Amino acid sequence: MPRIAVVPGSFDPVTLGHLDVIARAARIFDEVHVVVTHNPDKHAFLPVVEREALIERSIDEARIEGQIRIANWSMGLLVDYCQQVGAEVLVKGIRSSTDLSYETPMSIVNRNLAGVETIFMLPNPENAHVSSSLVRQVSELGGDISPYVPRAVATFLQQR
Ligand code: PNS
Repeated sequence: MPRIAVVPGSFDPVTLGHLDVIARAARIFDEVHVVVTHNPDKHAFLPVVEREALIERSIDEARIEGQIRIANWSMGLLVDYCQQVGAEVLVKGIRSSTDLSYETPMSIVNRNLAGVETIFMLPNPENAHVSSSLVRQVSELGGDISPYVPRAVATFLQQR
């Protein structure tokens, strides 16, 4: 049986920090599903289809190897998606104690709901401060986001 991991998130937009987690997960697991979810607590910046396209372009550009699928999920719980595709593990990046506090209850609930485990990855130091919300803000105010995002995202947002 292939070992399948899901890397979930809003990816609004995908950052270099996300891409690093995806690349590292792809080295560990047989198959990685990058799943764009709708987070009702967050105001959407880009449509989900644009986010998926940017993830795909960024993975190609960075030549990340491995079996990687890109999907979106808004039909219910993330663990429902995991069960549907046979994934037993979620992989998430943790940049700070704030991230850990946010992720810990979700990790426990996901395990209780469906036995899906969560693996946390620490970021490379150069990505430790990078977030989609920071990218959105700098982009909307006309600043340079190129140090924080894949080239495909920087180009797309500059042309927007
Ligand atoms: O990038 P984000 O917005 O921090 O990602 C949060 C996300 C998408 C992982 C979380 O909102 C999520 O898992 N949503 C799916 C709905 C769900 O399963 N909720 C219960 C989790 S305990």
